[in-house]
Amino acid sequence: MDRVKVLVHGALGKMGQEVLGAICRDPELEAVAGVDIKAEDEELPLPDGSRTIPLSADLESAIKHCHPDVLVDFTTAKATMPAVRTAAKHDVRLVIGTTGLSAADLDEIKILCETRRIGAVVAPNFSLAAVVMIHLAKKAARFFDHAEIIEMHHEQKADAPSGTAMTTAREMVKSRGKAFSHTTAAHEDISGSRGGELEGVALHSVRLPGMLAHQEIILGAPGQTLRIRLDQINREAFMPCITLAIKKVPELKEAVFGLNELLGIEDENC
Ligand SMILES: NC(=O)c1ccc[n+]([C@@H]2O[C@H](COP(=O)([O-])OP(=O)(O)OC[C@H]3O[C@@H](n4cnc5c(N)ncnc54)[C@H](O)[C@@H]3O)[C@@H](O)[C@H]2O)c1
Repeated sequence: MDRVKVLVHGALGKMGQEVLGAICRDPELEAVAGVDIKAEDEELPLPDGSRTIPLSADLESAIKHCHPDVLVDFTTAKATMPAVRTAAKHDVRLVIGTTGLSAADLDEIKILCETRRIGAVVAPNFSLAAVVMIHLAKKAARFFDHAEIIEMHHEQKADAPSGTAMTTAREMVKSRGKAFSHTTAAHEDISGSRGGELEGVALHSVRLPGMLAHQEIILGAPGQTLRIRLDQINREAFMPCITLAIKKVPELKEAVFGLNELLGIEDENC
């Protein structure tokens, strides 16, 4: 079987490098090009030291020269959509992990994929544990009227709250069919102490060196709380689902949002 040829957009970044390493370790995948706005050299050594691949800041010419099957995007929300349009124009399938995309961006990806009949997998969190966490939180949501989410990330994370925290809150609300009850403080001496609010779920963002990606969902009812906790201790956490998405996306003819379908998690309302 032919290996799936992959172009990594954001190849010089932290996730881009980790993805290239995962591709090197997978005999079904082949890295064919790296694209990054910071590209200075024309060749990029692969993390396993086996060889180099072409590196460029120009996505369209990289696609034309290297003919990838799949583009993996870990860049910034601003950089993703121009790359999506370019890749779709050349029928290159998409695996998108960049966070901070708007609802309009997601709609555009859906329509582009439908029009070109190409697959995309778009997930703000590729960690298996994160997907299962959201699944469990949705199951628990209908039993509790109060919920708060504390998400904790490294200090360089640009967006807040995290895409995962917002997805968790939205999915919990969707699952129970109504907003949670949000309690405000009678006196908030320091503004923002109660965090942000999304449909009754209070969201709190911690940004600290020493953290990677963590989230705690606290559900409250009289006399009791339930906590669901996620800890991603390194970027390896994202790799199994990213390589799975790269292998599956050539079979798709539409955009898939989240990993439930790929992992066979039933998306029933509980
Ligand atoms: N979905 C997930 O599971 C998951 C996991 C971790 C990180 N992320 C997200 O992935 C994104 C990247 O994270 P990171 O930690 O690798 O960041 P990073 O800053 O280390 O890497 C981003 C890379 O993108 C490049 N870039 C920026 N603008 C570009 C453009 N216009 N064209 C080409 N390249 C461009 C940068 O030069 C950089 O090398 C963020 O949005 C982050 O939140 C998602």
